Formats: sequence, structure tokens, C-alpha cells
Amino acid sequence: MARRARVLDLGRCVTRILAIETSCDDTCAAVLDGPTVLSNVVSSQARLHARYGGIVPEVASRKHLELINPVLESALEDAGSDLGEIDAIAVTAKPGLIGALLVGVNTAKSLAAATGKPLIPVDHLHGHVAAAFLEPDPLEPPFLALIASGGHTLLAEVHDHRTFAVAGQTLDDAAGEALDKAARLLGLGFPGGPAIQREAESGDPEAFPLPIAMSHDGSLDFSFSGLKTALVYAVRDLGAEATAERRADLAASFQSAVVGQLVAKLRRAIETAGWEAVALGGGVAANALLRERTAELCAERGVRLKLVSPELCTDNAAMIGSAARHSEPIAYPGYLDLDAAAR
Ligand code: KG4
Ligand code: ZN
Repeated sequence: MARRARVLDLGRCVTRILAIETSCDDTCAAVLDGPTVLSNVVSSQARLHARYGGIVPEVASRKHLELINPVLESALEDAGSDLGEIDAIAVTAKPGLIGALLVGVNTAKSLAAATGKPLIPVDHLHGHVAAAFLEPDPLEPPFLALIASGGHTLLAEVHDHRTFAVAGQTLDDAAGEALDKAARLLGLGFPGGPAIQREAESGDPEAFPLPIAMSHDGSLDFSFSGLKTALVYAVRDLGAEATAERRADLAASFQSAVVGQLVAKLRRAIETAGWEAVALGGGVAANALLRERTAELCAERGVRLKLVSPELCTDNAAMIGSAARHSEPIAYPGYLDLDAAAR
């Protein structure tokens, strides 16, 4: 018989949270005291996956198993905290790679059950939004958040701390996924976003006119697959030697087209709905050109911009702890049948 989750009204007394994030290829743990991050440990598996040119889900799950305990210990140590001082355990329960998520969820359940503490399941995307609530200089709702990562690209209308509404999202690839695929095509390695950014520094963003998909119906949805195909054709027409010679120009043109579309849709959303505050989140929000272009747009429109630090844009557990502060804690033993979900 399914056990009914007992939801606790602990909101006010949960101040110190130990948060865990293992939804993709980073093994992460953090300790928060209210909106203040006491520690934020990220053990990236990027170098391990680089040899395969992308994330191998089974390899990620096995690596999470190896790393999770040392990462948790480091997070507690860096925070100068022990488990006894923690009020609740938070964990990413969805969406993500199912095997990877299960490592975090089962670790969190075991820790919470062994210590009798409540558990707070968190949606990873709520985490990216909630990075904006963290100190220093937290942003309070209402605001519009552009979340662009390896798995998602969306515009989130944030009216309160607990949830958000999707105003537009990608119809095909995520922005980070497009950057990762472009980097692989250009022989720039994994993860692609930072590699493209580095290569683009010495390139001309106008060298290759690549398409910026803009719907005529005024929608706020994104599309990156046409852009990716355009790059495939450009590389095919150039041939291997010329592609290698023009790599910086290709990277700069591709980065410019991705950022161009993200900023164009952000502009459309600001202009149609009159948003007065904007936040950027997700791994692609660590991109210097996107940060610069968004800052220009917000300055032009007189909109407040919250630029989350790059370490809090890419996957981390501090953002999961931040979302957990505004989510329902579940008392023992209600969370014992909590499951991870890929979507
Ligand atoms: O949020 P995140 O760490 O993980 C997911 O939830 O997917 O985002 C990872 C994505 C990858 O596609 C990576 O290439 C991209 O973020 N990324 C960047 C930069 N740093 C990470 N893209 C562009 N410029 C960057 N500096
Ligand atoms: Zn993410």
C-alpha cells in the first residue's frame, strides 16, 4: 500500500539545509543558512566524459556513487557544520538522468532517515530560478528568468518563491546542447559552451551569417536546430582544412547567433509584458557575451538585472537548497517511497 507523504509545516524553523544535486554529471552538495551559502562543493565529471565527447549516463551514475560521500563531507566541513546542526536535507528529485538522480535521492533519503530529519524534494529547474534568491543581493519576485542550460531553455515568469510559469521554451535543442554539439563539430571538446566562448575570443562574430530563429507569431519559444544545421553545412562547404583555419570565426559566429536569439526573445518578453526585473540562470548564463548583451538590453529598457555568479549558474547544490527553502518539507517516514523522475 502506498504510504501517504506527511507534509510538515516546518517552513519557519528550517534554516540550515544540507542540499544534494546529482541530476547530470556534477556531484554537488551545499550547506545554506537561510539565503546565505555556507559551502558549495561541485565535483565536476566533465573531464571523465570529455573522452566520449558527451555525458554517458551510466558512467555518470557510477561516478556519483564514488563521489557523493566525500563531496557531502567537504560541504559540511567547509560550512563548519556537522549533521546534527542541519534542520533538513534537500535533494533534486527531477528532471535529469534517472540513474544519476537516484544516487542523490537515495543518499538524501538514507541521511534523512538515519538522523530523523525532514526531506525536501526539489525540481532542478526551480533550483536554477531560485539561484536568484540567494545572498548577496537577492532578487525578490516578480521577475522574468531566462534559464538556459544543457537540457532546457525557457523563459520563466516568477511571481512567487515557490513556483514559476513557462512563458516560452525551446521547441527542439536546448541552447547548451546546441553549443555542445557545435563544439564537437568544430573539434573543441566538452563541455562545449566554455570551449566555444574561449575560441570565439579571437574570432569575428560576423564572419559567417548564421540564422537567428524568430517566430512571426510573436511567440516566446526558441529553436536552435536550424542554427546547428547551418553550421553543419558551413563546415561541410569549407572542408576540414579551412574549418580548422576558420575555427575561431565559426565559434564566434555560432556563439553570436545563440546569444542573439536568447536576447531577442528576452527583449520580446520584456516589451510585451513590461517586466521590471530579469534574472539569468542555467549553465549558458555563465556565458560572458550573453551576460554583456543582457546587461545592455536591461540598461536600455530600465530593467533591473540580477546576474547570478557563474558558479551558481552551472549546476550546483546551493541553488537546490535555495529552492528547498520555499518548498514543502516531508517528515519521516513519508519520504521513504519518494522516487526520482527523469521528467
Ligand atoms: O545548468 P548546467 O550546468 O547543466 C544542465 O542542467 O544542463 O548547464 C550546462 C550547459 C552545457 O551545455 C555547457 O556547455 C553550458 O551550460 N555552459 C556554457 C558556459 N558554461 C557552461 N555555455 C556557454 N558559455 C559558458 N561559459
Ligand atoms: Zn542545470
